[in-house]
Amino acid sequence: LSRSYDPKVIEHFENPRNVGTLDRKSADVGTGLVGAPACGDVMRLSIRVDPATGQIVESVFKTFGCGSAIASSSFATETIKGKRLEEALKISNRQIASELKLPPVKLHCSMLAEDAIKAAIADYRKKQAAAPRAQGPAAASTTQEASG
Ligand code: FES
Repeated sequence: LSRSYDPKVIEHFENPRNVGTLDRKSADVGTGLVGAPACGDVMRLSIRVDPATGQIVESVFKTFGCGSAIASSSFATETIKGKRLEEALKISNRQIASELKLPPVKLHCSMLAEDAIKAAIADYRKKQAAAPRAQGPAAASTTQEASG
């Protein structure tokens, strides 16, 4: 096995970075849960975003899947940390696959990571759009009061 994979994949698989979960209810957290129908592997990736800067300040994952999927998600969380959402959206599975030198048969594993990043960002944006805007004390007078 170790002869067919690049040392970087093996290293990420054996020492995955940023394994964990974030509070999905938190307004500054976005979570993407994606699966690969072909193999049944599942990846959950969460980001915490600084709403003021649009920068990803934390990124964690849990992957129930193959070594390449675990390595891809570990690499993805490292790559997007510190990036703005627009930059993170540009990360493609090809980029992940080429960094990790994944064989063609394992390209869908890196696709999972791209899909998970996009899904986490979409979830964060959906929450931000739905949530009432955080406002300082100066804006307190705009608070609506229930009438009737
Ligand atoms: Fe399906 Fe790797 S074999 S994600």
